[in-house]
Amino acid sequence: MSKIIVLIGAPGAGKGTQSRLLSEKYGYPQISTGDILREMAQAATPLGQKIKETMASGRLVSDEVLAEVILTRTSRPDCESGYILDGFPRTLNQAHLLEELARKQRKNVLFVRIVVDEESLFKRLTGRRTCTKCGEIYNLHFRPPKVEAVCDLDGAPLAQRNDDHPESVNKRLEEFRRSTAPLIDYYGQSGRLVEIDGERPVQAVFEKLCEVIDKSVGD
Ligand code: AP5
Repeated sequence: MSKIIVLIGAPGAGKGTQSRLLSEKYGYPQISTGDILREMAQAATPLGQKIKETMASGRLVSDEVLAEVILTRTSRPDCESGYILDGFPRTLNQAHLLEELARKQRKNVLFVRIVVDEESLFKRLTGRRTCTKCGEIYNLHFRPPKVEAVCDLDGAPLAQRNDDHPESVNKRLEEFRRSTAPLIDYYGQSGRLVEIDGERPVQAVFEKLCEVIDKSVGD
């Protein structure tokens, strides 16, 4: 049976970094709701403007918009044999939607939480820089580019996300505690959540994730 891999974690836990690596290894597309919303936020429409303001403030975009995004994206042919969800679900409503979707698509879901403490999250987020062309993720403290402010892979300039400034980061962490932590309890209580230590280096976290995924084959 094909699979949905769900990476759950606070802002900065490493969901994007790890989903890109997993996508490369397993051939599943990475569906980052944050990336999709950032693209939608560029449209000069009332919806685009609203999404832009919500994201910059560190709050969550509405469940209605997220439902539309997820249903549209996961109905594309590249999702048939499985996909990786990076940043969805984040609320109990979204979790219920995912359950219904998995049933309809006849897919099993693997939930993995990447656990990182708040002090590291703050440092990771404020130090993050992303390639404006290919999306490669860097960090001033943990994974600096070889040449300052330039992507190692394609030479394009790196940029800081506008929600990675200290004030927005604090709001995002607060929103995570308020809206997404209950979701972790929900999955945890039903015994469906695998937790892995996200404080370790990127490669070590990746190896652990692969171990969990390979073990779940056939589920
Ligand atoms: P989104 O883009 O999903 O942001 P996020 O969840 O806040 O997560 P991040 O992308 O900031 O962190 P990450 O866990 O991917 O970490 P990364 O790998 O980059 O969402 C943005 C906004 O969109 C939300 O605030 C909300 O408004 C909206 N939104 C999105 N989805 C939504 C939903 N479902 N419902 C409602 N609204 C939604 O790593 C971070 C940094 O740490 C990088 O610099 C990286 O190099 C470094 N790093 C990673 N791993 C390690 C490691 N092991 N050791 C050291 N450094 C590391």
